[in-house]
Amino acid sequence: MLSRMPLGLSYLRYRYTPEANYLEQETFGMRFSSPIGLAAGFDCNGEMIDTFDALGFGFIEVGSITPKPQHSKHSTSFYEFKGNHALLNSSPIESAGVEKVIENIKARHSRIVVGCNIAKNANTPAEDAPKEYLRLFRPLYQYADFFTVNLCCNSTDDIYVPAERDEIMAILTPLFEFRRGQNQYRPILLKISPDLSDEQVDLMTDIMLDTPLDGVVAAGGTIGRHGLENSKKEMHSLGRIPGALSGTPLKERTLQIIRQIHARSKGTYPIIACGGITTADDVMEMLDAGATLVELYSEYYYGGNKSMRNIRLGVNERLRKAQQTTAKQQPEPQHEEAHAEPSSEEKATQN
Ligand SMILES: Cc1cc2nc3c(=O)[nH]c(=O)nc-3n(C[C@H](O)[C@H](O)[C@H](O)COP(=O)(O)O)c2cc1C
Repeated sequence: MLSRMPLGLSYLRYRYTPEANYLEQETFGMRFSSPIGLAAGFDCNGEMIDTFDALGFGFIEVGSITPKPQHSKHSTSFYEFKGNHALLNSSPIESAGVEKVIENIKARHSRIVVGCNIAKNANTPAEDAPKEYLRLFRPLYQYADFFTVNLCCNSTDDIYVPAERDEIMAILTPLFEFRRGQNQYRPILLKISPDLSDEQVDLMTDIMLDTPLDGVVAAGGTIGRHGLENSKKEMHSLGRIPGALSGTPLKERTLQIIRQIHARSKGTYPIIACGGITTADDVMEMLDAGATLVELYSEYYYGGNKSMRNIRLGVNERLRKAQQTTAKQQPEPQHEEAHAEPSSEEKATQN
């Protein structure tokens, strides 16, 4: 509401985004005001891009965007596990459709980096997925700063998590071809599932190494129910509810995946860490594990703007200290004369 009032955005910026000078970075040749972004699913239709910029996010993934509008039929399709800072999302992707989203992105004023997270409509058969991704990619191309191809659609019984090379290449190849004919370069990332086996994570990394794919978002929600502290009875009933679990139960798996991709790709590709990040220390752990950027969903849902502010300032302080430590460890600049090679004249006098 505040963001729609005159001066509302300025107030939000003043209240929640105090100066933080150590966060800015360049990735994919783009300037990110902070490595902390908002994960897909929060601003599904790109209606609040300027607001999230004012709240200090360094980037935002709008979506998932589907070609046609798509809405949940059920009202109760979302469960909170407050004790665990976890959420269970049992609804299909909510999207107003690509045309509406383009209108919204066009209306933004801020220069925050906007990723477009694209996914097929739920009722589109898997064999038609490549056509749908291209149908989204083309019209969005000039409005997105980067793309995330969502390969982790697992919030309903109708799970779509392609994990075979041929299936994934059938989606990516037309996107690469389209991009080749454009003047502007838009990075393309894959959003993968945390439920992939280690071999499948290696396969995703190899696709990144072998093709013009630019990076990975690791990862989406899990169909597992581990890491929740609920009673056996509650868990038994929950076991029958389909859906993707997000929040702290994901953190360890996210870290494992980041380390695995980082090691296999020898740190040469940007990785966006997503899943179970709730504190500034979590952000630093992900960056230390090899992530370039991070995204939050559940923590922002529970902690709101205050939590975002604290995480942002906490990361800024840790990066400031790290920079100072590195500066201290640099060898003292030597006085030039002390190390300068003696001139031939000097050598001659010495001799
Ligand atoms: C209610 C809800 C809706 C979501 N919708 C999407 C979506 O449309 N597309 C997507 O790629 N991820 C979606 N996600 C997954 C998040 O982007 C993120 O990957 C996941 O929540 C893990 O991050 P977290 O532990 O910080 O919540 C959704 C998550 C939730 C809880």
